Amino acid sequence: MNFDIADPALAALGRQRIAWADANMPVLASIRERFAKERPLDGLTLAACLHVTTETANLLRTLQAGGARVVTCASNPLSTQDDVAAALVEDEGIPVFAVKGEDHDTYYRHLDAVLDEHPQMTMDDGCDLVSRLHADRPGQVGEVLAGTEETTTGVIRLRAMEADGALRFPIVAVNDADTKHMFDNRYGTGQSTLDGIIRATNVLLAGKVLVVAGYGYCGKGVASRARGMGAQVVVTEIDPLRALEAVMDGFRVLPMADAARDGDIFVTVTGDRDVLRAEHFAAMKDGAILANSGHFDIEIDLGALAAAAGGADQAREARPSVDEYVLEGGKRLYVIAQGRLVNLGAAEGHPAAVMDMSFANQALCAEWVAKEGRSLEARVYQVPPDIDREIARLKLDTMGVRIDVLTPEQQAYLSSWTVGT
Ligand SMILES: NC(=O)c1ccc[n+]([C@@H]2O[C@H](COP(=O)([O-])OP(=O)(O)OC[C@H]3O[C@@H](n4cnc5c(N)ncnc54)[C@H](O)[C@@H]3O)[C@@H](O)[C@H]2O)c1
Repeated sequence: MNFDIADPALAALGRQRIAWADANMPVLASIRERFAKERPLDGLTLAACLHVTTETANLLRTLQAGGARVVTCASNPLSTQDDVAAALVEDEGIPVFAVKGEDHDTYYRHLDAVLDEHPQMTMDDGCDLVSRLHADRPGQVGEVLAGTEETTTGVIRLRAMEADGALRFPIVAVNDADTKHMFDNRYGTGQSTLDGIIRATNVLLAGKVLVVAGYGYCGKGVASRARGMGAQVVVTEIDPLRALEAVMDGFRVLPMADAARDGDIFVTVTGDRDVLRAEHFAAMKDGAILANSGHFDIEIDLGALAAAAGGADQAREARPSVDEYVLEGGKRLYVIAQGRLVNLGAAEGHPAAVMDMSFANQALCAEWVAKEGRSLEARVYQVPPDIDREIARLKLDTMGVRIDVLTPEQQAYLSSWTVGT
């Protein structure tokens, strides 16, 4: 078996942590049990380009139980948990190509190693695997039945491919399921982003001004969690509706040019580029902390920051995962996890209990495309509403939460138009 991981000897620790996450992923566990009996993915090779975390390990175990031959690489150079990679190779026999901190070339070499396995299904987080396949291996694209995509940024890229007529197989936008983005992006990113900032810096949030760039699902989660810990939260936006929502949720909304002067901690979660750039660095206070939780490391213009600090190699490690840039006049700015996803670079990513729903969507969508893939067109599909509702029902069940059911009279009332004032 081919693989490329940091150290197989880390498998015991990985095994322990994967089991811990599994105990908090009951919906996925119930799907795994059914998959083991029904084998809906039998005979398929599935290439997963995901953050190699304990939660992902449990998803891959589920896909394997369903009969798939699974092969994996990382969807981010910094997010791999090396002990998990080791356990996947040693215990599950899954070829993993991922090493925490891998450089740009190794990252793409690992994507290529996974594509060399000629998958019939892709499971992507950010669309790097799918775009690499389309760009470099046009002859191989036809082998793929269908795929799934995990995150907002990946779905945006796929819609652009679809609009260009470039997309050549169907992909399900797992991100867009309600049981994914309403929970994973909001509560998962909200908590784990602060977790990453705190683990990296040990900063006290109470009393600090924390600036959140972007008030989408992730931004709402970060803002509300930061407020809960006593920070004064400022939101920046470019969308009037989202900005209005932030104002009515009780946050101060400012242009970044103004927020830059006030902020102690900055968090970008926009999916956009250059959200923090030269003019903002110039306005910031000494000691400001900069973190990104959007998918790619382009939200903080690190090139401009390095230039302001006097050159490309001017950053100094102030603590593990924290780089210090000293600007003219001696002002210091601190960047966490090299501007990459702070929750995965400096913490463990989302808690398992929320990934339970995201990855239940992945597993059930893989089953759906295995069955329906041949009848689908080469476009971006929504998660079937039945899958979304079933996951919410299962999650509530596992939480011991019961809800009401409509009486026949209510059902009739809600579907009629004759009853008025
Ligand atoms: N850290 C994680 O684990 C994690 C989890 C889920 C999603 N993500 C990523 O986080 C990013 C945001 O995801 P989302 O689901 O919240 O997306 P979203 O589309 O719901 O929200 C993004 C918001 O950013 C705003 N925005 C865009 N450009 C901006 C700018 N220059 N300044 C201020 N605001 C701007 C948009 O108007 C929008 O309201 C994406 O890249 C997504 O892939 C990360």
